[in-house]
Amino acid sequence: MKLFYYLCAMINRETIDKIFTTARVEEIISEFVHLKRAGSNLKGLSPFADEKSPSFMVSPSKQIWKDFSSGKGGNVVGFLMEHEHFSYVEALRYLAKKYNIEIVEDGEMTPEEVLHQKEKESLYVISEFANKFFQETLLGTEEGKSVGLAYFKSRDFTEETIKKFQLGYSPDYKSAFYEYAIKKGYKQEVITKSGLCYLDNKTNHGIDRFRSRVIFPIFSISGRVLGFGGRTLSSSKKVAKYLNSPESDIYHKSDILYGMYQSKTAIIKNDSCFLVEGYTDVISLHQNGIENVVASSGTALTENQIRLIKRFTENITILFDGDSAGIKASFRSIDLLLEKGMNVKVLLFPDGDDPDGFARKHKTEEIKAFIEENSTDFIRFKTQLLLEDVKDDPIKKAGLIREIVSSIALIDNLIKKELYIQECSKLLDISENVLQNELATIERTLQKKQAKQNNVEEESKPFSVEVNQPKPTVDLTLIHEEEIIQTLFRYGDYIIEVKYNTSEETYNTTVIEEIIHQLKGDSVQLKSEFYQNIIDDIASGLEKGELRSGYFYTTFQDQEVVNKASDSLFEKYKLSENWEEKGIYIKPKEHHLSSHVMQIILRYKEVSVTNLIKSLTEEIAEIQDEERETHFRKIIQLTELKNQINQNLNRVV
Ligand code: CTP
Ligand code: MN
Repeated sequence: MKLFYYLCAMINRETIDKIFTTARVEEIISEFVHLKRAGSNLKGLSPFADEKSPSFMVSPSKQIWKDFSSGKGGNVVGFLMEHEHFSYVEALRYLAKKYNIEIVEDGEMTPEEVLHQKEKESLYVISEFANKFFQETLLGTEEGKSVGLAYFKSRDFTEETIKKFQLGYSPDYKSAFYEYAIKKGYKQEVITKSGLCYLDNKTNHGIDRFRSRVIFPIFSISGRVLGFGGRTLSSSKKVAKYLNSPESDIYHKSDILYGMYQSKTAIIKNDSCFLVEGYTDVISLHQNGIENVVASSGTALTENQIRLIKRFTENITILFDGDSAGIKASFRSIDLLLEKGMNVKVLLFPDGDDPDGFARKHKTEEIKAFIEENSTDFIRFKTQLLLEDVKDDPIKKAGLIREIVSSIALIDNLIKKELYIQECSKLLDISENVLQNELATIERTLQKKQAKQNNVEEESKPFSVEVNQPKPTVDLTLIHEEEIIQTLFRYGDYIIEVKYNTSEETYNTTVIEEIIHQLKGDSVQLKSEFYQNIIDDIASGLEKGELRSGYFYTTFQDQEVVNKASDSLFEKYKLSENWEEKGIYIKPKEHHLSSHVMQIILRYKEVSVTNLIKSLTEEIAEIQDEERETHFRKIIQLTELKNQINQNLNRVV
């Protein structure tokens, strides 16, 4: 069952289990949410929604959490994934570090994979090592202080800022880092692979790539050092102003946004992200109170970078230098943002100022007000900008319309599209009809293009216009299936007393064994593939002598399974009816559960048989005589079965 495998090439199962048994969900969550006791649970304000009364629950005994305002829930890893936007592996690593658990890597990797993993790990280690070296050089050496630190001070960077961004300095000596790293036992191969040094052809001695530069370390979203940017302090035109680490196994320029590690919390909190050009813009804005900002480092945004931002917010504002001629050049990459479903605004700084320059001259409140007042929706901005070139030239105007409408066509939201058409109609002084027609034409071309692409990808799937889907109706079968799964999760390892088929004799078994026995005995195939997978997994556990109830599944990677399991465990799910309260008769608890289990199985079987009868009846109208007879026979048999099930149901209710 692929679905449930711990897709985790690096960390072995024992380590994962150790992490889960050691980590305390209440300890970890307390670092992010203020929790108070509420009975056996802890309670706090939801970190995922704005609320006044707490609906966020943590259960120390079950080691799960549930946010009743957003519906999210799960185990400690799930929390870190939701809140910190870690990947599964990142969350596990975070916990291992916190609880001092040594991570053992999976022995099932091929030798090449193990080697590759080791190489990658060594790159992380040397990057972290170099980062320390650069910082210590900046703050702890004469040269660092008089050259590097003096430079940062001249840019008005405070000590706090320097620490927050872990800025550093690389000495003005060819091989300072190289020699230090060799002395500390790093292999030449690792040093050069990291890009921190390259080899002198003649002497085979390492040369520091970033020598005589101030250093901006570049972090992953969870704070690991991936690479560096270095700025020269020389004003010579012959020296490149900025140098970056070359691509490596851990540094992929197109997947990284500078500042994401320091900015992600503010991006989530503000539900918006500012995009600037470079290091200094990010840092200056941070120092001046704007903390939801990242930089693409000079290049157009890539799809992966957009995806990264989208994990935190759908709202992006691009901040341009006042004199930027690059705005028009960036139109295409902005179209990519629209296509990916982002809401895009742009902002121009006054002439000659970049975000860094502007931020240094103004107070936080002024910067915020300026951004607030001057951010313009991208489509409106583009229209206005292009309109300036057009003047009264009708041919140019036609081109402009096509240009604008093709941006609108990329937006995947009908209401937004409609609003843009209305607004552009006013701005361009052209009737909405004309724009709508243009839009329809462009959309058709886009669809054809897509169809072609799809056909190339999978030829078996001919392009067809999507037919309107029928409105979803409540599916009784699925409701019953869900009830079975929830019972398995919540009560799977409880013992129940069950009657042998007809006799009054009873035997003890577990809920899991009884349900699996009943379903497998009749080879029942569930309608929901998701639920069927769970049943199969529980059954395979049973074969190994394991009782896999909800607890077992709360440590899984598959978020859908974890959610279902923690929902069931959080007593949101209770036995469907409370017989004792109804005063029908008082039974011992196990008996109550036992009748519940029998009921859900029988009800499910009844619904399945009813469905079968229904479809056979429908088929009869369309088939030949001989087949009809077998159909009729089947229907009669099924109806008998249905009656029997109903009789049994009456007995257990
Ligand atoms: N940048 C870059 N490569 C360059 C020039 C700039 O990556 N060759 C990026 C840097 O991230 C920098 C940002 O663009 O932070 C802004 O550029 P610029 O203003 O030229 O750099 P500063 O270091 O601010 O230089 P100055 O003090 O001259 O403004
Ligand atoms: Mn600058």
